[in-house]
Amino acid sequence: MTAKKLPAKKPIIIANWKAYLTRVEEVQRFALSYTRVAKKYTHVDLSVAPPFVLLPAALAAFKKVNVRIAAQSVSPFVDEKQTGEVEASMLKSLGVPQVIVGHSERRHPTVGAGESNDIVRAQVAAAAKSGLTIVLCVGEQERDAAGTHFSTIASQLTSALEKAVAPATKLMVAYEPVWAIGKSAKDAMQPADVHEMVIFIRKTLVEILGRTAGVKVPILYGGSVEAANAQELLQQGGVSGFLVGHASTKVDSLTALLDAVR
Ligand code: PGA
Repeated sequence: MTAKKLPAKKPIIIANWKAYLTRVEEVQRFALSYTRVAKKYTHVDLSVAPPFVLLPAALAAFKKVNVRIAAQSVSPFVDEKQTGEVEASMLKSLGVPQVIVGHSERRHPTVGAGESNDIVRAQVAAAAKSGLTIVLCVGEQERDAAGTHFSTIASQLTSALEKAVAPATKLMVAYEPVWAIGKSAKDAMQPADVHEMVIFIRKTLVEILGRTAGVKVPILYGGSVEAANAQELLQQGGVSGFLVGHASTKVDSLTALLDAVR
């Protein structure tokens, strides 16, 4: 396939740190070494998503560079005084502008938090109410010859965005096929398959949100994006950027990836 041009807008890169970085000092060290080289990376729109307890440290540590902070999840409740919940308004008042919603590791019924489509819809509504930018994750567990992955993605999108609560400017969709997460570049999805799904997601967004809003929502890909496959996925996958797990958790592998999408 002939190489296409990189997208005209800055690629959106969201570093999903999951629970890789666990201590304040690790966040500070990461931010310090990234800050030293940050001037080289003005061609990307970078966010980092640390665990909840490290959000204040990340907000402080990345203050001097153009890196946005995102939360990895949010409570579906609004002002319900529920034990253990981190509500959208708390994130907003802390100064966190973005939140990842519906990541497959949160949706998983046994090893995750068991977040169903209904919970994800409530999380989207709660985040929208507080004016947070939402990174809505969708993705199939497996693929089969019958192509059921398309209906899985359509129902995840339709359910989460049923009430069209978030303006298109405050919404991104991250397509993350579960089978491609946490592996290596060679096991990631092929750019042509990503492109096919991006077209399907775009069509579904237009159906749900209407044409004007539906065409504006950035669509990201996530699942074993590394420096080795980032450029090809960006050029041929039709995506606006990436949600990156393991490759974003060390400054070296993150900057190698940012170099690759130059
Ligand atoms: P990965 O994770 O890049 O390690 O595959 C992506 C994600 O789960 O968001």
